[in-house]
Amino acid sequence: MTLTHASERFANDRTYENFFGGAPEFIVSAPGRVNLIGEHTDYNDGYVFPVAIDKYVHIVARPRKDRQVTLHALDVDARYEFSLAMLCDEKWVSAPTWSKYLVGVATLLQRSDKTLCGMDAIITGDVPIGAGLSSSAALTVSSALAFLTANGLEMDKKGLATLCQRVEHEFIGVKCGIMDQTISLFGRADHGLFLDCRSLAHTHVPLNLGEHVIVICNTKVKRELAASEYNKRRAECEKGVGILKRWFPDISSLRDVNLTDFKNYEGELPELTQKRCRYVLEENARVQQAIDELKAGDLPAFGNLMNASHRGLRDDYKVSCKELDLLTEIAGGIAGVLGTRMTGAGFGGCTVTLAHRDAVETLRTRIMREYVQQAGIEPEIYLCTVGDGASVQKVS
Ligand code: GLA
Repeated sequence: MTLTHASERFANDRTYENFFGGAPEFIVSAPGRVNLIGEHTDYNDGYVFPVAIDKYVHIVARPRKDRQVTLHALDVDARYEFSLAMLCDEKWVSAPTWSKYLVGVATLLQRSDKTLCGMDAIITGDVPIGAGLSSSAALTVSSALAFLTANGLEMDKKGLATLCQRVEHEFIGVKCGIMDQTISLFGRADHGLFLDCRSLAHTHVPLNLGEHVIVICNTKVKRELAASEYNKRRAECEKGVGILKRWFPDISSLRDVNLTDFKNYEGELPELTQKRCRYVLEENARVQQAIDELKAGDLPAFGNLMNASHRGLRDDYKVSCKELDLLTEIAGGIAGVLGTRMTGAGFGGCTVTLAHRDAVETLRTRIMREYVQQAGIEPEIYLCTVGDGASVQKVS
């Protein structure tokens, strides 16, 4: 559903009225993302290059005079209520996962001295859930904007991204980086976001893809171990930094280490730590090079860097899985495909592929045939339109 469709739908249909007896006042829409290159670099203070996709989480809402929050999650057909006056206890621990994002946002906003009024809200969207396209960041960002709008408050986007990241850390238990929240807020149609995850300095780089398109393939594999393995990877990188400090006392993250220095000392690290750190340093270099290639219009070079990124994630960082590898193998063998890689945290989820538009039909047919045959799962394929970041629309 596009943004215009969302506002038209909720302005014209009776879903909201049926739940709450009256019209909504506003709709917040926050997009998911696909990361073109720069994976598992964000929590190492490194570089990333994601785009916002035209898939959104929408929150349709109206403020309340009291401090009650009533939520209907349409897509999972669930309802949850909580009081903003009762957020200090740990009752939220047993709340359904989707509602924890809203509870988390409200708690952190109130901790920063904002006393909130409640709202009646429905939540819906079309970002595939748990597929590596940042459905959770889209939910957190839309929740934060909904609470702010209901209360007539504003917050700068960088502060908002950081607050949303803290919700994942403190309420969901995933020690994620800042990429997903930032692109959901700062995305721009037809541009990628070259983001320095340390300073949050960023540039919108035009995606001059000519005859090429971005294709997303969803393995439909559930990412069971994602949270615990993700946190382990982060810990392994921190361990690497701890050891490297012996020779480079001023470093605070892998971002501060250059590849040449690393090569001189990598033998001192345990093998596993060595591989994880090497991948991160190489990926950071790849992102910077990829931006140069894109600006120079060298799409084949950009595609080669995507392929190298996948190899690193598969062999050194070990966050791929056989279904992701299968999709990249099929895509990589098709004429007109410039690059293909897993995207997001990994262990399932999606691949992102840069392909000539004439190759898309072959890509679709071959994936539908070979992936289904070999993996026994029906994948989903989306042609990606690069959209804008989150927005709020008043409904009148
Ligand atoms: C998840 C996290 C991000 C990032 C990616 C991997 O999407 O939320 O912060 O670390 O994985 O690049």
